[in-house]
Amino acid sequence: MNVKDTECVRFLQWALPRLRLRWHGFRKVRKQVCKRLARRLRELNLPELPAYAAHLDAHQEEWAVLDGLCHITISRFYRDRAVFDYLDKKILPLLTENSLRRGGNTLRCWSAGCASGEEAYTLLLLWEVRHASRAPAAEMRVVATDVDERVLERARKGCYSGGSLRELPPDLLAGGFERLARLYCVKQASRNKVLFQRQDLRAAMPAGPFDLILCRNAAFTYFDEALQQEVLQGFHERLPAGGILVLGRHEALPPGSRGWLAHHPGVYEKQGHGALQ
Ligand SMILES: C[S@@+](CC[C@H](N)C(=O)[O-])C[C@H]1O[C@@H](n2cnc3c(N)ncnc32)[C@H](O)[C@@H]1O
Repeated sequence: MNVKDTECVRFLQWALPRLRLRWHGFRKVRKQVCKRLARRLRELNLPELPAYAAHLDAHQEEWAVLDGLCHITISRFYRDRAVFDYLDKKILPLLTENSLRRGGNTLRCWSAGCASGEEAYTLLLLWEVRHASRAPAAEMRVVATDVDERVLERARKGCYSGGSLRELPPDLLAGGFERLARLYCVKQASRNKVLFQRQDLRAAMPAGPFDLILCRNAAFTYFDEALQQEVLQGFHERLPAGGILVLGRHEALPPGSRGWLAHHPGVYEKQGHGALQ
């Protein structure tokens, strides 16, 4: 059984705000969610989405199941090349310099909504292959969080098919992976530097502070505006002045956000004493 697109759109426009999510973010990816909804109807032996809406009203615990059906977990290494090129050329050298000047030796990074780890490992490998030898006194640690335990399991294993690595520059591919049959596995020493944790951004965040936070194609696409503001506030509290927040290519800070300086599309610096310039 399939659900009709119009019926699915009507249902999502009703249900998503109740999960503090927004229809606008799901418009393009709705087919995936609609397919999952059709499967859920079959599991519950329900004829159509209005009956599922009634089921949600009667069974509050079903909202968590619906929330899970709305996780869009697509990712790949070096996604949005221009952003990682900018981090490589401009941001990582500055953050390293600032950290060493402050007497610290660890670059603390957070990948929020990390999916299967592609973003977190890309950042770490960028640092290890291109920067670490120039700053032997410094190291990078990455905390990577996601609400979905299934993707985190894959992230901890750190093994990927060639397709998700096709945008990764050759030096990072050569320096960061071991082959295991047809898979490419992140070397154990690098895997040890990324800590994967299950966490729902709506309810909790790692303590920080962080020098760099990546939150791409997650909160600022799928969350409603008030929730985006709350999440942004959490990021603000976890970055020092001069700390960097990276959003996805098609994302923007929620309207009215203050205290951020745009460096490059999607790359924002927290303003205040000690800023980068
Ligand atoms: C499209 S992926 C983005 C992955 C990566 N950041 C990237 O840009 O390639 C979005 C991820 O955000 C996660 N996510 C969605 N809602 C979340 C929440 N409330 N808390 C934490 N992670 C969440 C999803 O499970 C999914 O893995």
